[in-house]
Amino acid sequence: MIYILDTADLAAIKHCNEFYPLAGVTTNPSIIAKAKTDFWKLVKDIRAIIGEDKMLHVQTTQTKAEKIVEEAKLLKKELGGEFYVKIPIGEEGLKATMELHKLGIGVTMTAIFTPTQALMAAKAGADFVAPYVNRLDNIIGDGTEVVAEIVNQLEIYGMDCKVLAASFKNAEQVHKCASVGCHSVTVTDDIMKLLISHPMTDAAIQGFDKDWQGVYGEKTILDF
Ligand code: G3P
Repeated sequence: MIYILDTADLAAIKHCNEFYPLAGVTTNPSIIAKAKTDFWKLVKDIRAIIGEDKMLHVQTTQTKAEKIVEEAKLLKKELGGEFYVKIPIGEEGLKATMELHKLGIGVTMTAIFTPTQALMAAKAGADFVAPYVNRLDNIIGDGTEVVAEIVNQLEIYGMDCKVLAASFKNAEQVHKCASVGCHSVTVTDDIMKLLISHPMTDAAIQGFDKDWQGVYGEKTILDF
């Protein structure tokens, strides 16, 4: 499983980059707009936090293939490192993906809601396809089932493309995606924290502390 953070909140990125086995950060125009700040400063700050080796996925704001390619080249030049341009699925997006694949610029094809979209994106050369799990669940579309079908079809056809499941609203959706072999997920920092939270764990840790302190007080192993 590849864990990615779906936010442009610099404090959240700093935190998760330090405490979690984070592979990178994804953004989209809605996420960037929420920050209400200068675009280049924001994405360059994200790159500075995560470094060149971790993935940074930034979505194009263009709709025509030629302009998507132009924007992708500029983003790659400015942001360097492990970079992926996010492109919504569609004819222009596929055309841009085929061109970018030839140029060696990573592509994450996004706004995926069906396995047919995902397979076409993979065939065009997308490195990742991003199905929106919660938005499917919201319309009784079964996001996990769509993820499972995409994982299976990419495997059947031996495609060099990974599923990057997105749009999660709870930890159970992430768990279900992991159960069907989803390659990667992008989640908010809140969900990242939920993935390791459990009240029984808190109780167990409290029990260890209480028992230890009952005999050794505030001394730790380092103090012996
Ligand atoms: O990048 C796609 C993802 O961020 C969409 O999530 O919560 O807007 O459905 P959401």
